[in-house]
Amino acid sequence: MTDAAPTFFEQVGGHDTFRRLVEVFYREVANDPELRDMYPEEDLGPAADRLRLFLEQYWGGPSTYGDTRGHPRLRLRHQPFRITPGARDRWLRAMRVAVDEAELSPLHEATLWDYLERAAFAMVNTFER
Ligand code: HEM
Repeated sequence: MTDAAPTFFEQVGGHDTFRRLVEVFYREVANDPELRDMYPEEDLGPAADRLRLFLEQYWGGPSTYGDTRGHPRLRLRHQPFRITPGARDRWLRAMRVAVDEAELSPLHEATLWDYLERAAFAMVNTFER
């Protein structure tokens, strides 16, 4: 396996990079009361672990997320929450700070951001007029 092409997970620095990304993201969530109120648990730590494990798996890292949580079914798992376009934009703003602070190469950054933006748009489940 030593000559296998490195995964995106490995290319961007592996676990440490995803740990920092998610740490900064939840720091921003904690500082945004409207977004913070959507998270049911008082401690954001477990939510941070779930997001990190999911992203690590998605980008070719360990499959711990699937081993412990099963199939992601992300839209289904977000069904209990009112994800409006406004909530999406707050989520993306927090994630933008995290991606900026990760200081990835321009190509890695663009690849990651493109995915996150699409995923966030797909997660919207409540439209208000
Ligand atoms: C669009 C705005 C979004 C909002 C407001 C939002 C909000 C939430 C909330 C409130 C939870 C429950 C916290 C918990 O895990 O205890 C959650 C879980 C989660 N979210 Fe989001 N989310 C959004 C988008 C996304 C996107 C784009 C992704 C992936 C790229 C994502 C990945 C996850 C994962 C992996 C979990 C844990 C699922 C599990 O239970 O295993 N979310 N989200």
